[in-house]
Amino acid sequence: MSRSALAASTVASLIAGYPLKTHNTFGFDVRAQFACLIEREEQVLAAVRDPRVAGLPRLVLGGGSNVVLSGDFAGLMLLMALRGRRVVREDQHAWYVEAAGGEPWHEFVAWTLAQRMPGLENLALIPGTVGAAPIQNIGAYGLELCERFASLRAIELATGKVIELDAAACRFGYRDSFFKREGRERFAITSVTFRLPKAWQPRAGYADLARELAARGHAAATVEADEPAMQPTAQAIFDAVVAVRRAKLPDPRELGNAGSFFKNPVIDAVQFEALKRREPDIVSYAQADGRVKLAAGWLIDQCGWKGRAMGAAAVHERQALVLVNRGGASGSDLLALARAIQRDVFERFGVELEAEPVCL
Ligand code: EPU
Repeated sequence: MSRSALAASTVASLIAGYPLKTHNTFGFDVRAQFACLIEREEQVLAAVRDPRVAGLPRLVLGGGSNVVLSGDFAGLMLLMALRGRRVVREDQHAWYVEAAGGEPWHEFVAWTLAQRMPGLENLALIPGTVGAAPIQNIGAYGLELCERFASLRAIELATGKVIELDAAACRFGYRDSFFKREGRERFAITSVTFRLPKAWQPRAGYADLARELAARGHAAATVEADEPAMQPTAQAIFDAVVAVRRAKLPDPRELGNAGSFFKNPVIDAVQFEALKRREPDIVSYAQADGRVKLAAGWLIDQCGWKGRAMGAAAVHERQALVLVNRGGASGSDLLALARAIQRDVFERFGVELEAEPVCL
């Protein structure tokens, strides 16, 4: 049967009044007017063409680890559960590995290492799914997804057209891509292909990671390490990243959260020089384009917010960039806390903090 014939004959099983509490890592107790579990690509088209949802907004949800659901959703929620992962191609220089959009990200990373294909280890333990990862170009401990990205497949919700995008078309930036801008809410990402270079080198320069590796007896330096035997393996980096994240970041299964709640703001050199004179200890990272990235966690911490709460919405005790639901908070409670933090940081530093998760 051809793809279009299959699409036409697939009937969507929509569930009305679907509870989303276990589909968002903050654990907000909200509902979708309609939801549909997507286990095959064809189901996307069948769901969006169902007459019951004509004219209603549509949203695609992966692991729900990067959204703030501030109320019930009056529309169709597509719950992406497509599974599968395989090596699609291999050449002299790299492996090309494809994973379906609904694969849990961390399990996929662990699987690539078990197949002896290193390259994603710095991104261990990031919550969420493979399909959500390119949307915000996930990054951690010195590596961003775009550095290992080859292409992705997506379905345009309005037309059902399947498209393939390469890295240039995705327009990746820091926690940013085409899918957060022009492409916002228009596509369901069904699979992502990664390019994992065979000439692997450890990426171990990020301060927290280097410290953890040194504590485990590995050389902190990367390629220049004098003793190759001391160089960390991909598995050692994976283990160290997992340890650092566990020590700092709350497990969403125990304490509702969406990782960093704000992006690290990037300001121009002139503003930075003025700020540095007033705040000599400010944590900053020079960017290639001359601008300067600031550590939002430090700014928030300096304003005294670390560990503070507004009702059941709170700032995490060990990382001020993470907002948590201590139990019973609503999405609007959390957004009120976020606004209070933004206001204080702006008043003290003149810097605007931008939310990292998608706020609905
Ligand atoms: N800092 C504080 N107080 C805090 C938190 C941080 O002073 O409460 C200082 C730290 O001492 C450090 C600096 O701020 O000097 C940066 O902190 P950290 O290394 O913990 O990283 P981050 O900039 O806060 C970013 C990403 C994380 C990622 C880590 C590691 C963003 C928005 N966040 O956090 O990503 O895991 O680096 O690479 O870019 C996420 O996006 O959800 C996420 C967790």
